[in-house]
Amino acid sequence: MAVIKKNKKKAEFGDFQTPIKLAREVCSLLLQHGLEPVSILEPTCGKGSFIMAALEFFPDVHNVIGIDINSEHIRVAGSALNKLGPPSASIQIMNKDFFTVDWSCVLESLTDPLLVIGNPPWVTNAELGRIGSCNLPDKSNFQNRRGIDAITGKSNFDISEWMLNKAIEWLNGRQAALAMLCKTAVARKVLHQAWKSGQHLKRSDIYHIDASRYFGAAVDACLLVASTSLSNGNFDCRVYDSLKDTSTTVTFGYRQERLVADVTGFERWKHLEGKERYKWRSGIKHDCAKVMELRKEIDGYRNGSGELVDLEDDYLYPMFKSSDIANGCDLQPARWMLVPQRIVGENTRQIRKLAPRTWEYLQRHAQLLDRRASSVYRERPRFSVFGVGDYSFAHWKVAISGFYKKLDFKVVGPYAEKPVVLDDTCYFLTCQTKKEAFFIAELLNSDIAKDFFSTFVFWDEKRPITVNILRRLDLLALARELGMEETLKDFLRQYTQNHEQQLLFSESVLGS
Ligand SMILES: C[S@@+](CC[C@H](N)C(=O)[O-])C[C@H]1O[C@@H](n2cnc3c(N)ncnc32)[C@H](O)[C@@H]1O
Repeated sequence: MAVIKKNKKKAEFGDFQTPIKLAREVCSLLLQHGLEPVSILEPTCGKGSFIMAALEFFPDVHNVIGIDINSEHIRVAGSALNKLGPPSASIQIMNKDFFTVDWSCVLESLTDPLLVIGNPPWVTNAELGRIGSCNLPDKSNFQNRRGIDAITGKSNFDISEWMLNKAIEWLNGRQAALAMLCKTAVARKVLHQAWKSGQHLKRSDIYHIDASRYFGAAVDACLLVASTSLSNGNFDCRVYDSLKDTSTTVTFGYRQERLVADVTGFERWKHLEGKERYKWRSGIKHDCAKVMELRKEIDGYRNGSGELVDLEDDYLYPMFKSSDIANGCDLQPARWMLVPQRIVGENTRQIRKLAPRTWEYLQRHAQLLDRRASSVYRERPRFSVFGVGDYSFAHWKVAISGFYKKLDFKVVGPYAEKPVVLDDTCYFLTCQTKKEAFFIAELLNSDIAKDFFSTFVFWDEKRPITVNILRRLDLLALARELGMEETLKDFLRQYTQNHEQQLLFSESVLGS
């Protein structure tokens, strides 16, 4: 019981204390950066590793403030510092909550050059919600995340991101630097936010660290180092494989109001950015695989709960998931998806008449379907799905998985005379013919297209390939580069005509 309580507390406060060895390596690196702080602030100091290492490496420091919510950690930090002998600097270690500290007062008491150093808690608001903790900032709608993210329930954020956004703001207008351990994705978001809000950063660097070695955590983590400039800002961040590396692996940055994963590649290929000629789509979202995904057997279909059911074919479609797309969809689809609508919002009551056994099956599992949390299903016809439209039923598609760490576009053709549908982990564009699909896949799988997409993809993201990235490539500009412009133009003419017909189709379905 005591162990469970201890683990819960560790999770709630993201409590992974930094080993002194790592804290020293970080300070040694900061020394090489030329930092000479006279004030140190550790806003979640824990047992004080960073404070001790900073005192060793920066002998000119005369003011140190460390804060932590855990009184036991504060006691341990205090006694470790006492053991160092009479301090040459003024050191205040305080037991306080980051979210209620009067930071302007703390910051006023520290003279420049200031170094904000540390390792904020590694925990997300979703994890805190699960364990019923309120170790959170006041504002529940973090950074005003709204729109589709909030609707689909994706508005999850790291507590450290919130803290780091604050900490980087503290540097504004000062001669100051920040050095923090955090998840690599968090470091990027924090820089993005700082660049977007016009903060002047003189230099930004990310050094990958082996989180499993130091913290036993299987996450992509790094040291983020950022320093301020009182004049013009710089919008690049150099990335290094480790704290010891002196040559960069890549430089990402902020260009044309968004993050670019590789600024050199971007400069080379930015002329290919432009109009979305073929519309990129997401697969169908249903959030209920147990009911909506079935395997075909001799005697019927078996659903995700192992139940053998007898359904009409009308609403069943062969399907591919991300793993099928990534592993080669020349295989036969192993699953079938029950798709009760042809378009978002279509009335589902007609299923009762058209396919009574399917209707009875949906009724029988209505509880599970009604319980789906995402608000996309709210105030929609019962058994609704999302991300469905005429495009879902196109016989030829060129698809990619959003989750796989590979730029590999696959042609998906029909199976058993039915279109193969995709789930919402995949993106695709539609084609009218096999020839067209193979031609578009050839363009998208060309080295130039891959180089172009690579300038935007951050491979450590959970879903590295997004529809926003796919939409950036102007296929016509790419075809021109590859000497295939005329063929594409022919296909595009037919595509545009077909697209107009599809719009008419959608209107007629919703009107019926
Ligand atoms: C990842 S640990 C790192 C500790 C220390 N910075 C280090 O590097 O060893 C995160 C620390 O954040 C502290 N913490 C969590 N929530 C906090 C809050 N709301 N206010 C202040 N400290 C907090 C935890 O107690 C824990 O010591």
